Amino acid sequence: MKWWQNAVIYQIYPRSFQDSNGDGIGDIPGIISRLDYLQELGIDAIWLSPVYESPNDDNGYDISNYQAIHPEFGTMDDMDRLIEEAKTRNIRIVMDLVVNHTSDEHKWFVEAKKGRENPYRDYYIWRDPVDGQAPNDLGSTFSGSAWTFDEASGQYYMHLFSKKQPDLNWENETMRQEVYDMMNFWLDKGVGGFRMDVIDLIAKVPDHKITADGPKLHAYLKDMHEQTLKDREVMTVGETWSATPESAKLYSDPDRNELSMVFQFEHMMMDEQPGKSKWDLKELDVVDWKEVLTKWQVELKEDGWNSLFWNNHDTPRVVSRWGNDKDYRVESAKCFAILLHLMRGTPYIYQGEEIGMTNRHVTSIDEVDDIESRNMYAERLAQGYSKADILKSINVKGRDNARTPIHWNQTDQAGFTEGTPWLKVQPNYKEINVEQALADKDSVFYTYQKLIQIRKENPAIVWGSFNLLLPEHPTVFAYERLYKNEKWVVVTNLSADSQIVSFETIKDQGNVVVSNYDRSSLNWSDLTLKPFEAMAVQFV
Ligand code: NOJ
Repeated sequence: MKWWQNAVIYQIYPRSFQDSNGDGIGDIPGIISRLDYLQELGIDAIWLSPVYESPNDDNGYDISNYQAIHPEFGTMDDMDRLIEEAKTRNIRIVMDLVVNHTSDEHKWFVEAKKGRENPYRDYYIWRDPVDGQAPNDLGSTFSGSAWTFDEASGQYYMHLFSKKQPDLNWENETMRQEVYDMMNFWLDKGVGGFRMDVIDLIAKVPDHKITADGPKLHAYLKDMHEQTLKDREVMTVGETWSATPESAKLYSDPDRNELSMVFQFEHMMMDEQPGKSKWDLKELDVVDWKEVLTKWQVELKEDGWNSLFWNNHDTPRVVSRWGNDKDYRVESAKCFAILLHLMRGTPYIYQGEEIGMTNRHVTSIDEVDDIESRNMYAERLAQGYSKADILKSINVKGRDNARTPIHWNQTDQAGFTEGTPWLKVQPNYKEINVEQALADKDSVFYTYQKLIQIRKENPAIVWGSFNLLLPEHPTVFAYERLYKNEKWVVVTNLSADSQIVSFETIKDQGNVVVSNYDRSSLNWSDLTLKPFEAMAVQFV
């Protein structure tokens, strides 16, 4: 078994986690001061969103120096101390590896812009204009064209994200070698691995408009593995929006020596109108959603590994998205936790999820920081959408939802900073905060703590097979896990209405291991589930 197979990973978005010096921006010393809290939660590793030097066009996902820490987050000494302090608590630090693109302020790009003959020119993707226009109609994820014209050299460069995030040219072997050297620099410091930003885009073929899953992708990953990860006890998780179960097996089959696992997003895109964008909202169809999640559980059974997550710094908070953050905040937060954490794979918790933090609500674009939302706002306004419609999409799906500061306590600015936070603290911080959660034995926090413990103590949760139960039920998501002579049944009601269900084949009572309402007896053939009720029952 690899260490990450029964591990739970906690994602930190450093800007919003804990400020230590009053500048309103979370930092590394702030993270160190909260390691005891994370140890109490029970997590095994931290996925640290970027802390490298960056002009912050995309909050650190635009890196200008991979081997330096952004002064607003601290120093390299702070980083070394974080790795060390975490280690003493059996927590590993997994770094964010952003190598699909750099910042336009990275020295490679600064050099590359000097002219066609510059040795760094080929580190990036340049094309001549076609009929005085961009080479083709490839678009950027952050709205507009993926090509920006560089006056000085008369060529366009490619960027799948903002124009301050030029894409690297992975065809260039010298560039690849520099990336591997940089990875080894971090690995030699003792980090626990990498979360690889949009890694499925690195093998793009711009002239054929192939962006994701390009023909050389797996060859590059194998080469990277050979030159960096091989013989090290580390984990890697690729961010792969294009992943299918078939490609996920290619990435994560241990015999292929590529990645430990990938983040797949199929279940995260089911409340948008097919063929449109994330901003075009649609109700979630729970039956279809269950089918998709089940497919991933079943397909990756033998020669692959799943990652399990409901949210991250790019997505809304689960309790607001699919739970009910008004009448059943605590119940629905626990319900989604139980549903996810007893599946097969490595679970991820996004900071604040463990206390049931909610989405934020904005009434004007002036309150929005996120570049993706802001660019979309400008684009849709020009296309004639109403402000109200655009803001509605931003309130439901915008990335700032998950990026507001963590609520530590009831004091001013929720204990996040002594200064003015870079993004406003949410108004509900007095009810929802870590101090309150730790003091209340029925809080969402303790459900997460228990779920992490359950995974550690029960090989059935790590290795057991997965079967969906009641596949046609419109709101109840139930499944069983089977391992040797043991069976677990997980039942969750993803709605604010009670539901009556019947499991005719279950005869024993079983042992309720975790639940979000009091459950002393169970009548399996006539089971009334309360709003967002969830339970896991073990049969041995
Ligand atoms: C995915 C990251 O999670 C997101 O925050 C970022 O904007 C893009 N990749 C570009 O790096």
